[in-house]
Amino acid sequence: MSARTALITGITGQDGAYLTAFLLTRGYRVHGLRRRTSSDNTGRLTALLGSRPDGLVLHTGDLADLGCLTALLGAIVPDEIYHLAAQSHVHESFASPIATANANALGTLRLLEAIRLAGLATATRLFNASSSELFGNPAEIPQSEATPFAPRSPYAAAKLYAHATVRLYREAYGLYACNGILFNHESPLRGPDFVTRKIVRAAASDTDVPLTLGNLNAVRDWGHARDTVRGIWLMLQQPQPDDYVLAIGEGRTVRSFVEAAFACAGRQVRWRGDGLDEEGFDAASGATLVRVDPILFRPAEVDALVGDAGKAHATLGWRPKTTFADLVHEMVNAEMAVVHHYGSARAFTLPA
Ligand code: NAP
Ligand code: GDD
Repeated sequence: MSARTALITGITGQDGAYLTAFLLTRGYRVHGLRRRTSSDNTGRLTALLGSRPDGLVLHTGDLADLGCLTALLGAIVPDEIYHLAAQSHVHESFASPIATANANALGTLRLLEAIRLAGLATATRLFNASSSELFGNPAEIPQSEATPFAPRSPYAAAKLYAHATVRLYREAYGLYACNGILFNHESPLRGPDFVTRKIVRAAASDTDVPLTLGNLNAVRDWGHARDTVRGIWLMLQQPQPDDYVLAIGEGRTVRSFVEAAFACAGRQVRWRGDGLDEEGFDAASGATLVRVDPILFRPAEVDALVGDAGKAHATLGWRPKTTFADLVHEMVNAEMAVVHHYGSARAFTLPA
């Protein structure tokens, strides 16, 4: 049998890099859609795969451009399409809601239309990266495929449009299309403005600059991106398309992520003060390690997301392999390696 061909949108992102590595080891020919940017955005691919991996071809393009998507699909004729590209930062979506909707909602619609226009509706399989953010402040804990959606950000509202449209194209045009309702998943390749990466960078840093955070009480269900991309692939290998939750099933606060990350770096965090005056401090020295900054709260917070991946366990045979403790260790160790290489000057690049 000849090698299968996959197209990944968002190949330069965290999940794009892990999925590319996963598919290449399974013998796929992988094509990736990347944006033209003024500085290089292929660092994650290089970090996992080296500079010129066999079997990988990158194409420049944008979700804003229907013509480019249609031409690309016609030229590649992929067996499987993994749609990962998005403006993925929830807080940023409040600052740029229209750009977020254009990429996340209309970008997905353009991709669906491009599949039809290229005549591939019954010839290709589509995975869409949907999100646990769709649940908002959910009606039940844990959340499954049956939990009602109630988005609380422009990001989630746009993702809900994409989710619903993917289902519509499945029902109306017979497209093999799956929504993965993905809970938070992290790695050393996580973007630097997401909370876990901010925390591990601060924990590994050897400077006295305190880390500033927003809502310390928010609960998330953090898994590893490597496990998530395996689940994503499994969705497209089933006889029938369907939607699945991928989650670990363990809720933890941002505060407990801070404690775990600093413990990996050999420091015990204790807490003093309340509300906006709360601080995390080093139990040994008393030095302040964490402060709260109101600017890092969102106009509408999502308090607690914890997933029930029972359907993925039963139907896909998917089980996450990386524990929370291993995830935190891997992320902190990766940051420490960078600090040892470049020194403490890197602390000045900690994001706000
Ligand atoms: P990420 O690291 O932010 O990567 C997003 C990717 O989308 C990047 O390659 C980015 O390109 C690309 N992109 C953004 N706008 C684009 C546009 N207009 N045209 C073409 N490409 C565009 O996100 P991730 O963590 O890998 O997440 C992958 C997907 O899963 C996203 O759709 C996200 O919303 C969804 N998701 C993620 C999680 C999670 O916890 N990671 C959970 C639920 C759902 P640049 O590199 O040029 O910026
Ligand atoms: N980013 C960030 N920065 N978040 C903070 C901070 C901070 O300084 N302080 C507290 N938080 C809280 C946020 O309020 C949120 O409750 C939690 O930490 C996680 O924030 P993020 O890491 O930004 O992720 P997210 O949960 O908002 O969104 C991620 O997961 C979604 C799935 O649930 C993203 O990957 C989305 O693309 C994805 O859909």
